[in-house]
Amino acid sequence: MMTTTKTLADVAATSLSAVTTLERHGLDYCCGGKQSFDEACLAKGLQPADVMQEIQQARTFGEEDRDWQTAPLGDLVKHILATHHEFLKRELPAISNRMDKVLAVHGARDPEMLLRMAVVYRNLYVDMDAHMHKEEEVLFPFIDQYSRAEAAGQPVPRVPFGSIANPIKMMESEHEQAGGALEEIRSLTRDFELPSYACSTVRALYEGIQAVAADLHVHIHLENNILFPRAIALEKR
Ligand SMILES: [Fe+2]
Ligand SMILES: [Fe+2]
Repeated sequence: MMTTTKTLADVAATSLSAVTTLERHGLDYCCGGKQSFDEACLAKGLQPADVMQEIQQARTFGEEDRDWQTAPLGDLVKHILATHHEFLKRELPAISNRMDKVLAVHGARDPEMLLRMAVVYRNLYVDMDAHMHKEEEVLFPFIDQYSRAEAAGQPVPRVPFGSIANPIKMMESEHEQAGGALEEIRSLTRDFELPSYACSTVRALYEGIQAVAADLHVHIHLENNILFPRAIALEKR
């Protein structure tokens, strides 16, 4: 068996595919990052070599490891839309249906927690829907124009909102709100610990929300840390 002396944090730092693979397996590279990769895998009943292989495959087949610091911004926008926006559009309504079902079946057993969770989730769903719409209809098309102008060696076009930094500021604060909603759900569910009454729908509900949280983590990283700063830099060029 292939073994490594690496910690979870070491492995996470190698690539974005590593981050998403670790998240998919619930391997905490953040607060639990100092743990040995091998031991953490084994504790979850996973073979470290299998997980490593998955990371390698994601690197080979995925586009994730393109260097988004240098790739054309238009390509990064396309990647965010095709990967992360599509994922949310598929998952958010599916989770909403599960939430309704869980509320109808178990609402009376755990009314305080489930009602609050339903409200927080509903707001997250509605807010993310509107948020993606703003990015898709307003902000991203301008970023795309900036990227084309740069490629053509032309000055960036004027934007109707003064500076691109203005809508970006708004998007960043909406990202924070979404993160806050997911944090609240995490704490309401005691870190997604399944309650005694959990049926397969409760399980699917919790897993769905955890998957959204993991995906959003990467999605927001690409926007806040790469896309937005690069767009602002193009404007100042
Ligand atoms: Fe987005
Ligand atoms: Fe966003």
